[in-house]
Amino acid sequence: MTDDIRKRLDPEASIPKHVAIIMDGNGRWAKKKGQPRIAGHKEGMNNVKTIATAASHLGVKVLSLYAFSTENWSRPSKEVNFLMRLPVDFFGTFMPDLIKENIKVLVTGFTDHLPDRTRKVVLKAVEDTKGNTGMILNFAFNYGGRAEIVNAAKNLALKAADGSIDPVKIDDAMFAGQLLTNQLGDLADPDLLIRTSGEERISNFMLWQLAYSEMVFDKTYWPEYSVDNLVEDIKEFDRRDRRFGSI
Ligand code: IPE
Ligand code: IPE
Ligand code: MG
Repeated sequence: MTDDIRKRLDPEASIPKHVAIIMDGNGRWAKKKGQPRIAGHKEGMNNVKTIATAASHLGVKVLSLYAFSTENWSRPSKEVNFLMRLPVDFFGTFMPDLIKENIKVLVTGFTDHLPDRTRKVVLKAVEDTKGNTGMILNFAFNYGGRAEIVNAAKNLALKAADGSIDPVKIDDAMFAGQLLTNQLGDLADPDLLIRTSGEERISNFMLWQLAYSEMVFDKTYWPEYSVDNLVEDIKEFDRRDRRFGSI
């Protein structure tokens, strides 16, 4: 269905290698329809399948999706429990497509603190797709940017204390090496950040990695965010002039 989607972009267009999306607005989408918030999360999950497939066909190398933040634990337990069960449903139904599309799943987050069943399902998806060589679908699940940075600082402090590193030698690269996104190698920093639902904030997402990302705030609620929206947001990225502090 999205096989010829690449033709919708100029052949010369620069495609962001790493696209990160703050998938926001599930609850408001559901409310608008007179449905419970969890109905929005279910619809949002289905949309992940559509958008991940389209991103892969567009030639995106890494698609990072903010699925659950370290602050989302403060929601009512019914909603949290539903969100923790979603990966079971998602990978249970989408795995054949992930294999077919050659998509490799990664998870960026504090997986040790997830409920057993959720952690097992997520880590199994990583394991089952580890041989795939296409787009990386990177789920930020129980992820928080500040916790990630604190964790990196702590690791470096421990290494300095036991003498395995010289603290004077700590630089950007060494610090980035301790972040959860280190597994993405030189694609760790998003080129394009999209946040749906009209909110214009970062909400503790990839604080270090977003230093030079282009940002697009799309008004669409995540369950309604379409392939057309993605194509438009990538066109917007192509119009940006990235300078990285230079001229
Ligand atoms: C995003 O949608 C999904 C998660 C944060 C898990 P929300 O649940 O935040 O939806 P709104 O922002 O309340 O509409
Ligand atoms: C950010 O959305 C987290 C995810 C999309 C997973 P939130 O809905 O939690 O962010 P705030 O509370 O509006 O800042
Ligand atoms: Mg929200």
